[in-house]
This record gives sequence, C-alpha cells and structure tokens, in this order.
Amino acid sequence: MPIKRERWINRPAFVFAAIGSAAGLGNAWRFPYIAYQNGGGAFLIPFFIALFTAGIPLLILEYGLGQKMQAGAPGALGRIKKSWEGLGWWAVFIGFVIMSYYAVIMAWTWNYIYASLSVAWEGRVLEFFYRDVLNSTDGPLQLGPISVPVLIGLLLTWFLIWLILRRGVKFLGKVVLITVPLPIILLLILGVRAVTLPGSMEGLTYYLQPDFRALLDYNVWVAAYSQVFFTLSVGFGVMIAYASYLPRKSDINNNAIITALADAGISFLAGFVVFGTLGYMAGAQNVDVGQVVEEGIGLAFIAYPEAISLLPFGAAFFGFIFFFTLLTLGIDSAFSLAESVITGLDDKFKLSRPIWVTLVCTFGFLVGLIFSTGAGLWWLDIVDHFVNNFGLAAVGLLECLLIGWVYRAEKMRNYVNPVSDVKLGKWWDIMIKYVTPLILGISIILTLSERLMVPYRDYPAISLLLGGWMVVLLLIPVALIFARKKASRPGFLQPPQ
Ligand code: PFF
Repeated sequence: MPIKRERWINRPAFVFAAIGSAAGLGNAWRFPYIAYQNGGGAFLIPFFIALFTAGIPLLILEYGLGQKMQAGAPGALGRIKKSWEGLGWWAVFIGFVIMSYYAVIMAWTWNYIYASLSVAWEGRVLEFFYRDVLNSTDGPLQLGPISVPVLIGLLLTWFLIWLILRRGVKFLGKVVLITVPLPIILLLILGVRAVTLPGSMEGLTYYLQPDFRALLDYNVWVAAYSQVFFTLSVGFGVMIAYASYLPRKSDINNNAIITALADAGISFLAGFVVFGTLGYMAGAQNVDVGQVVEEGIGLAFIAYPEAISLLPFGAAFFGFIFFFTLLTLGIDSAFSLAESVITGLDDKFKLSRPIWVTLVCTFGFLVGLIFSTGAGLWWLDIVDHFVNNFGLAAVGLLECLLIGWVYRAEKMRNYVNPVSDVKLGKWWDIMIKYVTPLILGISIILTLSERLMVPYRDYPAISLLLGGWMVVLLLIPVALIFARKKASRPGFLQPPQ
C-alpha cells in the first residue's frame, strides 16, 4: 500500500501556497505590460472573462484531480488511465524547463537587490543590465562566458529553494505565510509612493485608459487567455501536486476562486506601482509615457530602476523594496515548479524525498547555467515563448479533453461539489468540455501558423529550432520514457479508496 501522504498544516497553508505559486514575476511585469498593450483598462474585460471561463474552471479541475487521486500530475492522470501518465510527465517537465530559467531571472533580482544599496544603475541602466549583470552577447549563437554575478545569484536561489523544499510541505506551508503577504505589503508601500508622485496620473491613464476597439481584435483575447493560464500556474502540474497533499474532504471550489482573485488583485496592484512610477519618470524627462515603457522583462529591469533613480528621495530604499518584492513574489512560484517535479518523482520512484529534492535542485541549477551565459537572455526569451505558447496550451487542452470526456466532467463535478462551500453548476462541464479546449485549440493553431510563417523575433533559425521546437517536442519522448518505467513505489497507479 502507498505510504501515508504528507499533509498541509491547515487550509490557509494550502491556499497561501497556491497563491504564492500563482503570484510571481509574471504579475509584476507581465500583467501591467500586457494590459497596457492590449486595450488598457478595457483589457480587464477579456482578462476577467478568461479568468472565469477558463482559468478558474481549470484550476478547479487541477485541484480536484490532485485531491481526488492523491498524487502529482503523472500519478493522478495515470490513475485515470494508465496511458495518460505520460501527459503528466510532459506537464511536469515543461514546468521544469520554466523553473530553470525562472530561477535565472531571480538570480538577476539578487544582483539588483545588492546594487540598490548604492543605486549602482543610476544614469546607466542599460549598461548595468546588459553588461554588468548579464555580460550579454549579440545573439543566441554567441554563447560567451557564464556571468559571475548571475552565477552567484543562481546559487543563492537554488540554495534557498533547496532549504525550503527539503523539509516537505509542512514546512513549505509555514514559509508561504511570510512569502505571500510580504510582497503584497511591499507593493502597497510602493503603490502609495507611486501614486503620490507628480505625473503618476499620466502613467496610470496610460495603463488603464480603456480602448474598447481592442476587444474586436482576437489577439487581445489570445493574450488574455494566455496571461490567465500563466499567471494561475495551471498546466504544469503544480496545482495538482499541491492539491494532492490535501485530505480528500477539503474545499476545492472556493479555494480556487480565492486563489484566482487574489492573484488577479496582485497583478492589478503591480500595474499601479509600475505605471505610476513610469508616469513620474516621463514627466521628469518631459517625454510621453509611451517612450519610457519597455517591452517585457525590460519593464522591471530597465525602465523601473531608471524611474527609481530619479526619485526625489529614498532611491536606494525604494529600489531595495521593489527588488525584494520581486524576490519574494518569485521564490514561491519557483519552488512550486520544483515541487511539482519532486512530487511526480517521489510518488513513483522509491528514494527519500530529501534525495529527490537535492537531485532536482542540482539539475535545475545545471540547466540554468545555459541561461547564465552571455547568450542567456536570448535563449531565455526563445524558450519562454515556445514553452508557454505551445507547451502550456497543449497540456491544458489535453487535460480538459481527458477529464471532460474520458473521465467525464460531471463525475469530477460530483466529487468537488459535496466537499466545497460554493457549488458548481452544469456551466462548469460546458467550460471544461467545450469552451476552454476550443479556445486553447484556436490559440495553438493561431500561434502555430504565425510561427511557421514569421520566425520569432529575428533570431537565427537554428536557435529557434533548438531552443523552441526541440525543447517542447523532445520533452514528449522523455515523458514517455518516464511513464514506461516501472514504478518502485507500490500502488503508484492505484486510485485511493
Ligand atoms: N504564475 C507564475 C507567475 O505569474 O510568475 C509563474 C508560474 C509559476 C508559472 C508556476 C507556472 C507555474 F507552474
């Protein structure tokens, strides 16, 4: 019989851990940027529609699956149908890839925390980011040496993850009681600072002014759905693993709604911080807000630090707080990804948990070295694009089809409703069986056809092949090999009674 499963200390520990996984680096720079680019305030409409029609239903599905089957993604799916175990491994390995570069972004954050003490980037943000921290080369094919500051940050990140995970979910549940509320408090402090700066209103107008015409553009809808999946951490096995440590009578639906709304709130708040501060910078430099907004990750590591260095007072203090916020936001997302892999392995293969933790952390660190070279930023960008656009969407789609049609949505609903405060109606079945898979399918086809016609950015084809297509596709045979391996834990595929 399977050994007795570890448990969260209580319900808040689980909910906090789930919110911690959901609220991460993506909330701080991705949401504000995507929102302003896709209709500003009007983006909230597709965002919330995506949250309620796909995000929350899928979150409920993953919680329900983990809790009902009492196993991480591979075991949980395999217990429904043996042949589906491979999908679980694929999800988990995609999560592993994300984790390997996510930890590298956290490594940059450590450098900025240290540099904030002397506002070392003042007057030279680009040079600081590309040269001092990344030691960046001109393209993905010029690898360049590993950047020492990034290496040190990466070691620190992995050491911290290792320390936290080694002691199991009981301890993890205590860590998130700090790492979840802390960044919220810090964001509130930064938010108050931002909106009391002269010019901040211009920034906020830029962020939130609704452009309702955007709602007619399907790209805006695709952006809303993909942001919702990424931000809620669904499709990587994380939420399945976390829910597998819940006793079978725990609430599901309300926990999912709380997680999703808390996560959305944090994103929205981060937008105030970023755009309020950028509005101030634009005013100080007498330019339009649009000219100071950076694309993607540059928002957090170039535009925001520059704005901070222009503050009338306390640049070091606010710089420190911002990057410390990023660190505390990111750390619980990073270890949730690692936990998904560890749970998957520990469920199936007999080794002690601390050994799995050490192995996964070491391996994650080693893979992260690629992203720490001079070409690291380029590879990170390529892998991130492909893994999120294809890997995540494909896993989400297959999960919906499997649970919706093979296991049957109604059966899952009949399991989650009696244990939950909030009851789901038939609408949930419709979302899982038709709406979510349809949207995911369409967005895969759209991005796929776009990628086949126009290569991603102007990266050399070989780098897109290696870092993009190969990473996503090669993980499939690896997943199948893991699925084929004989379990050394007894009862791995036996559903709990
Ligand atoms: N949700 C996290 C963010 O928004 O930064 C990122 C993430 C964490 C994605 C865990 C996926 C995951 F499994």
